[in-house]
Amino acid sequence: MKGSSILSALALAGVSAAQTPEGFTPVVEQKLEVTFGTKSVTPGLALAKTETSSQPTIGLNGTADGTYIWMLIDLDASTNFVNPGAGQPATYLHTVIRDFKASGAASADGITTLTSTSNQPVAWFAPAPPAENPPHPHRYTNLLWEQPENWAIPAAANQMLQTQRSGFDVPKFITAAGLEDPIAANYFNVTG
Ligand SMILES: *[C@@H]1O[C@H](CO)[C@@H](O)[C@H](O)[C@H]1NC(C)=O
Repeated sequence: MKGSSILSALALAGVSAAQTPEGFTPVVEQKLEVTFGTKSVTPGLALAKTETSSQPTIGLNGTADGTYIWMLIDLDASTNFVNPGAGQPATYLHTVIRDFKASGAASADGITTLTSTSNQPVAWFAPAPPAENPPHPHRYTNLLWEQPENWAIPAAANQMLQTQRSGFDVPKFITAAGLEDPIAANYFNVTG
């Protein structure tokens, strides 16, 4: 089979592509369901800032009998928030919330909604990209981890969350926090 035929055969078989933006590591293949109001996010969906002001609902396709950690990180921020063009490109960590669990049985379409009563360790902070010239989309990347049983955030990981939000390094955090790779992901774009 020629390469292109293999690719189309894979597409027909419904083999999932990455749910993380191109170039981002770790690559995650399972889709995290992310919904703002009635708008369901497909990877790379463009949203207005106003549509992303409240914390989205998240979920997984299938059963979800674990406990989970959710992160939202902007991959396209600048080290200079006030004058982005004068800074260097940098990630910016928005939110990390622990203790997500299935809120009940899966809905008719197979999606299990996950909820958390926590707003820790980093409470919801809505996307707020500044106006930029030229304007460019910021890729807001959602990641979901299995939360280890009785997980207490190691001091080094907490230090990163509290003091290194600009330039936040996800692989370094995974190691510091004692986590495996994320199990589900999705991303949406917002332009300032
Ligand atoms: C959930 O996964 C199943 C099996 O892969 C798929 O057939 C179904 O379309 C998915 N549901 C949604 C809402 O994505």
